[in-house]
Amino acid sequence: MSKAKVELNKKIILVTGSPGFIGANLVMRLFKEMTSGTVISFDNMNDYYDPKLKEYRLGLIEEAAKDCPVEHVFIKGSLADKSLVDEVFEKYKPAVVVNLAAQAGVRYSIEHPEAYVDSNIVGFFNILEACRHSYDNGATGVEHLVYASSSSVYGGNKKVPFSVDDKVDNPVSLYAATKKSNELFAHSYSKLYNIPSTGLRFFTVYGPAGRPDMFYFSATNNLAKDGVIKIFNYGDMKRDFTYIDDIVEGVYRVMKGAPERATGEDGLPIPPYAVYNIGGGTPENLLDYVGTLQEELVRAGVLPDDYDFEAHRQLVGMQPGDVPVTYADSKALEEDYGFRPTIDIRTGLRSFCEWYKEYYCR
Ligand SMILES: NC(=O)c1ccc[n+]([C@@H]2O[C@H](COP(=O)([O-])OP(=O)(O)OC[C@H]3O[C@@H](n4cnc5c(N)ncnc54)[C@H](O)[C@@H]3O)[C@@H](O)[C@H]2O)c1
Repeated sequence: MSKAKVELNKKIILVTGSPGFIGANLVMRLFKEMTSGTVISFDNMNDYYDPKLKEYRLGLIEEAAKDCPVEHVFIKGSLADKSLVDEVFEKYKPAVVVNLAAQAGVRYSIEHPEAYVDSNIVGFFNILEACRHSYDNGATGVEHLVYASSSSVYGGNKKVPFSVDDKVDNPVSLYAATKKSNELFAHSYSKLYNIPSTGLRFFTVYGPAGRPDMFYFSATNNLAKDGVIKIFNYGDMKRDFTYIDDIVEGVYRVMKGAPERATGEDGLPIPPYAVYNIGGGTPENLLDYVGTLQEELVRAGVLPDDYDFEAHRQLVGMQPGDVPVTYADSKALEEDYGFRPTIDIRTGLRSFCEWYKEYYCR
């Protein structure tokens, strides 16, 4: 698909969901790449997981911003607050919007469905409306809307690897349903209002200062307290783990290439719309992943040298909403942006374990 080049320097970039995990890492990367312009972080700093971690990431961002020619603005607020979202767009007129703010997690959606509708449906709708009105009165407006979708849209699909051409109409969690809805909403807004939009289906992202609700992190918390970790589906699970730096590289490249606008035979816009997978492309067996995690926790000094791995694992059944395998076909991303994730799990888990030791065991 042909892409229109999007220049980031001298521009205003809005990153929602920063200082969330992926958002904070993206903003730090933008600081390294941009030589001028403004980056706006927008987040409600909710307590779905320990907000101290979000404050820690915000601290890193603010520290990095001091030595950087790029201006940084942090706005605390909710995407579900339409008047605030409109106000931010009117005041700053962002050229590129990266929407990462969302209520994440599959399991939490069973207990707290309303959080998903507020943030992922109403919040995303507010972003689309603000993008639509950014073109009012002939303004240049938003040049590219990039937003987070998820591998969870593939639900229980049996055909692997998962391709963006596969049917994804059978979500097995409300979280997945909201992410698939985001793609549908984006398509209709791209068609109606010519908004260049790209959805990114992330596959199990991990790394330093990641999300404590995710398996590798909660398992580490548990093991560090001498607890026993539950391994779901009796270990018969495969996950396409993707290290945070690979995700950030992918998002950064995608931001700079927007789907090209074009007019169809009917004189109306051909929707400048695209969706890509970003995943490692080498699914790991959960038991092997846990083994590597435990080895790296010993190496980093979080667990003792004589740690008994077997005594701290319990094999249990499948959880509602979970899927046995995720496996990304990232060919389309490679063809259009010349990139596919490459960081292996030992390298990635090593960085996570070293960070964990430094952050929690100091
Ligand atoms: N991490 C992964 O493995 C993964 C996988 C697939 C998709 N995703 C998606 O990527 C995006 C970023 O994920 P993450 O891992 O960085 O999660 P995260 O929870 O660390 O970051 C999301 C941020 O959004 C904020 N937020 C939530 N609702 C909000 C609202 N209504 N208004 C403003 N801010 C709000 C949260 O406070 C949080 O800081 C999310 O959309 C998530 O669904 C992540």
